[in-house]
Amino acid sequence: MCTDNDPARIATLEAGRAPIYEPHLDTVLATARSAGRLAFTRSAGEAVRAGDNIFICVGTPPRQTGEADLSAIDNVARIIATEARTPKLVIEKSTVPAQTGLQLKRALAVYGRKNGLTLRVASNPEFLREGTAVEDFMHPDRIVVGVEDEGSEKQLREIYRPILEGSRHCPVHTAACPPAPAPHMLVTSMTSSELIKHASNSFLALKISYANVLADLCERLGADVEEVTSAMGLDPRIGPQFLRAGLGFGGFCLPKDVQAFVRLAESVGVDFGLLKEAERVNRRRVGLFLDEVRRALWVVKDKQVGVLGLAFKPNTDDVRLAPAIEVIRQLAAEGVQVRASDPQAMEKARAILPDVEYVRDPYEVAKNADALLITTEWEEFRRMDWKRIRDVMARPLVLDGRNLLDPVQMKALGFEYYSVGRPDAQAKLKRRRNSAIVIQAFTALKPVLQEGHLSKTAILEARPSSRDRTKRQPLEPGNP
Ligand code: UGA
Repeated sequence: MCTDNDPARIATLEAGRAPIYEPHLDTVLATARSAGRLAFTRSAGEAVRAGDNIFICVGTPPRQTGEADLSAIDNVARIIATEARTPKLVIEKSTVPAQTGLQLKRALAVYGRKNGLTLRVASNPEFLREGTAVEDFMHPDRIVVGVEDEGSEKQLREIYRPILEGSRHCPVHTAACPPAPAPHMLVTSMTSSELIKHASNSFLALKISYANVLADLCERLGADVEEVTSAMGLDPRIGPQFLRAGLGFGGFCLPKDVQAFVRLAESVGVDFGLLKEAERVNRRRVGLFLDEVRRALWVVKDKQVGVLGLAFKPNTDDVRLAPAIEVIRQLAAEGVQVRASDPQAMEKARAILPDVEYVRDPYEVAKNADALLITTEWEEFRRMDWKRIRDVMARPLVLDGRNLLDPVQMKALGFEYYSVGRPDAQAKLKRRRNSAIVIQAFTALKPVLQEGHLSKTAILEARPSSRDRTKRQPLEPGNP
């Protein structure tokens, strides 16, 4: 039984629709409802009395100071304590600063002092990502529970049993789920559990900012950030994920959690300067990208600019703290005519930036544009017919803030193309040609090597002649 203080949201859910775009969520809702395992109510009291376990999933938005606003947690604590008629396990699912669980326990005791019920508290942070939330929930790498007693641990183990045993119905993999080790269930203190969530998100933010500074360095030195980070990622101590350079981290989790973690550290006298720097690096990403746009366009006022992508990441309609929104806001303030498209997020973007022209067809965004910006790495954009785009643009200029496309192929198609931390196409093309020559030479040498006659003469003979090299075909234009 689920409740929310927004009656419109409950009405949407009761009508069988998900209030957000999230792949597979509609299937989960429909299956659970038709099996009688899921219901919605506007009455908080009814929801509280419906079960022995209550998950608190309210928002904890940032206050002006960056600290998490916990007023919604306090609110539901009062409702739970006054509406409960039997003992409950109250589980914090919302992302909260360390020690919130202890405060929650106190609040429940104070608000419920007249009914004398036992209301235990546990922490169970969520690690799922928007866009892959259902898959992450069904296939977690870890389930963390912070408890104060064995009974709470037992109850949480029972709740997660289908996931721990792999016996749940997974809507993501319709045939069979790929084989994977069972998730770890980690049982900790409540405070450690709360810290694990903030510490994880903040570390991910650090990794992204590190990759972004590396990208700036690569640009100055003529190296390729993707070559650097993919080699770094092969070291299991570093890992390949969250090293994608670009417009920086957005959304309603990483930016607010980093801030809240810094404030929490400050409140107990610890200076988390490392995270402040990650935040500062992130805040500069949009500005640096816009500098590149201004450099490329020379005069931006009255130029027509197309923007591909509004959501803070692909496969979601969430535009909260999305870098794309900030890019558009600043361009519009400078008198640029912006036309934007996104497969899912246009409605939510319109609510924030009503004066921008939104078009469903991404090719329309390119029509007569002086520049096209890629601000969210939707797969749909990668697969577009870029020859067709080139032909409809006023100037074939693409600034790729997410490194979605291939610089060499974009150059071969005749685009002026800029991306983040990658050498210009000319340098890359030259390096690819050199690699091709080495491969060609090695192929020619192979029989000689196999025979074991590796003489200087043989090497010279096996090398392709300069005439052969100049005869090489140019790269075939095609879709990146
Ligand atoms: C994040 C965490 O990844 C989840 O584990 C956590 O559960 C969730 O917050 C939460 O606290 O609820 P999410 O905000 O959905 O998930 O998105 P991420 O995939 O973390 O991406 C955040 C931002 O970082 C996006 O703007 C994305 O484009 C950017 N990013 C990500 C990069 O710029 N580079 C990367 O390599 C990865």
